[in-house]
Amino acid sequence: MKIVTISGSLRQKSFNTALLATLVSFEPDDVEFENAAIAELPLYNDDLTGDALLPVQRFRAQITAADGVLIATPEYNYGIPGPLKNAIDWASRPAYQAPFTQKPVGILGASMGVVGTARGQGQLKQVLLGMASQVFPYPEVLVGQSGKKFDVELRLVDEDTLKHLQKFLTTYLAWVRKVR
Ligand code: FNR
Repeated sequence: MKIVTISGSLRQKSFNTALLATLVSFEPDDVEFENAAIAELPLYNDDLTGDALLPVQRFRAQITAADGVLIATPEYNYGIPGPLKNAIDWASRPAYQAPFTQKPVGILGASMGVVGTARGQGQLKQVLLGMASQVFPYPEVLVGQSGKKFDVELRLVDEDTLKHLQKFLTTYLAWVRKVR
């Protein structure tokens, strides 16, 4: 089974990218993870043609080939970071026949604040439902005060969060197998 991961943060020392790296490190049986990089995508513009669309074609093909998608993202000003929304929009057309249509998507988030991206995740769920994606309902992953949960090498060291993440991944993968 192929699971494509997307980080909503472009910075190198991202807690959200580190959260995805932790999931990948669990090495579940029969699962191949593949990262989809969103930094190289142009800003959404229906007028673009030719080589400008190559990164878009790559991204759309990755989502199409995936059995499931995992998105870990910060919230920016209570909402979805612009680069992530841009990437999602590129993979959302034609409406209801797009790479994200019916795709089983799980959401995670890490932030320095106490509510750990709850507001951004709410927005992301709404956007995914707008594309008729299947949204993994439970358990949620909201890693608040992330500066205390990761060490300086960006290893997740908080035991409770690690256990929760393992439970999330097991439950998510079982759900993908059921709904895909
Ligand atoms: C933030 N941050 C933030 N945090 C939060 O909990 N709620 C918010 O609304 C925001 N808003 C926000 C806007 C912008 C423009 C930035 C740059 C940051 C803080 C954010 O959670 C923190 O920087 C995370 O560490 C970013 O995630 P990565 O890059 O570590 O994955």
